[in-house]
Amino acid sequence: MTAEDGAARANDPFDSVATTPTQPSTPPALEVVHSTLQAWQGDALVVNLFEGVTSPGGATGAADAAMGGAITELIAAGEATGKLGQVAVLHPRGAIPAKRVLVVGLGPSSAFDAEAARRAAAAAAKKARELGARTLGTVAHGAGAGGLDAATAARATLEGSALAAYDFRGWKRRREERPRLERVSLLEADAAKVPALEEGAKVARAVAAGTFLARDLVNTPANVANPAYLASAAASLAGRGGLRVSVHDAAWAAEHRMGSFLAVARGSANEPRFVVMEHGPQDQDAPTVVLVGKGVTFDTGGYSIKTRDGMIPMKGDMAGAAAVIGAMAAIAELGLGLRVVGLCPCVENMVDARAYRPSDVIVASDGTSIEVLSTDSEGRMALADALVHAKRYSPAAVVDIATLTGASIVALGEGVSASLFCNDEALAADLARASAASGERVWRMPLFEEYSRTLESNVADIKNNGGQRGGVGTAAAFLKTFVDYPWAHVDMAGMELTDKPGQRHYLLPGATGYGVRLLVEFVTARAKAS
Ligand code: BES
Ligand code: MN
Ligand code: ZN
Repeated sequence: MTAEDGAARANDPFDSVATTPTQPSTPPALEVVHSTLQAWQGDALVVNLFEGVTSPGGATGAADAAMGGAITELIAAGEATGKLGQVAVLHPRGAIPAKRVLVVGLGPSSAFDAEAARRAAAAAAKKARELGARTLGTVAHGAGAGGLDAATAARATLEGSALAAYDFRGWKRRREERPRLERVSLLEADAAKVPALEEGAKVARAVAAGTFLARDLVNTPANVANPAYLASAAASLAGRGGLRVSVHDAAWAAEHRMGSFLAVARGSANEPRFVVMEHGPQDQDAPTVVLVGKGVTFDTGGYSIKTRDGMIPMKGDMAGAAAVIGAMAAIAELGLGLRVVGLCPCVENMVDARAYRPSDVIVASDGTSIEVLSTDSEGRMALADALVHAKRYSPAAVVDIATLTGASIVALGEGVSASLFCNDEALAADLARASAASGERVWRMPLFEEYSRTLESNVADIKNNGGQRGGVGTAAAFLKTFVDYPWAHVDMAGMELTDKPGQRHYLLPGATGYGVRLLVEFVTARAKAS
């Protein structure tokens, strides 16, 4: 990304002192190594323990034996209980070459799944980082007694470890410099199991890189990450795994009669961009999945202005687009055998003499007239034209993902789950499976007809806002009027940023990268089925 793609405009005295982007964050190297735990040399060796186990078996048992029963001793002393995410630290004192051994709890075996493995791996990786480790060796959590298949266990373990190692540099001049976790090695003594583990590692690498990219984009504030910046982040992925990216400007959107998307853009000095990313066969007849991400780089609310506190987290209002960009990067990297198109309307919602106003009537690209009740319902305005644009790909399914409504947070809680709306049962089932496998929650919500009724207007085909009550559903009902294909809408408001990662140890304060894993998992399953 050049300075011109971002905040800085040539010869502009304001932008001549603009904040420059930080270095991109890169995940640790993730590898599978054919080795016993006892032979591995490195900073932190991670073994695991189910709750209630008093004498460890498997790989943990082997490490215990090599250290003369040191882990059994920790358990007996009540210092390692197997509680999910609990980490006990041992110094092997030369009994094995690893500098330290971390015993991480997997929780009760009855509740164990891939998400538990991801959380446990992340808790251990966080601890390893605190201890200054640069290299981490680990067993694949759940591949033995946990009942996960080898690829799933490998993927969850490496994903959790890598995601917990995320470290956004930011613009702090004085920053506590601690070593970066450089390498995570999944250790396997049985050569026959290595190929299956390698399969999981490949997915973990792609997903970790995509999530790091999405997190960087969300963490970067709007004075840097404007629509052009977001678009150029997408464009810089072009060529990877044959990915094709085109970036369109306001003139292109005007040619396409995208009045709804452009209405939002009017108030900003930063021109909008409409990003199209294409993976897989160019053949128009190939089954196609379209992913649509809301890319509002900052949401002031426009003239329906937000409160001063409500506005603060709005640099994250492009998290849907970030998820689509991160997912497309991973999908291309993995070479998934399906035609996938990513569409991101990127726009800033500001207040200005030219900005759109409440009561304006706007015409979208399919001819739908929209009465603007709230300029703060800008996400659905931008998405409307993108959903219309998706029709040209004759999609088998379209999934949009957006930080669309505060009402979704009111309904489900902050950072707990995204809302899912869907007009197709098979698609809803696919997304439920992707959600379970990825650990990124969605919760199905209804598309009741009453929600559509709240959008009836006296002067236009539809209003852009159905009032306070049931706001998550009325927003979905608005989007529904623009689709005529199998469609799902993921309202991820409240999932994009966190200040309390809680038990999700793979999250850190700041951007979560929510949506990348969900979308990659969904597309992977579709690609396998087609
Ligand atoms: N970007 C917001 C939604 C949002 C709120 C995301 C909080 C993340 C955290 C969206 O554009 C918006 O302003 N929605 C309004 C809808 C209302 C005007 C119907 C809202 O939530 O208040
Ligand atoms: Mn808004
Ligand atoms: Zn918004």
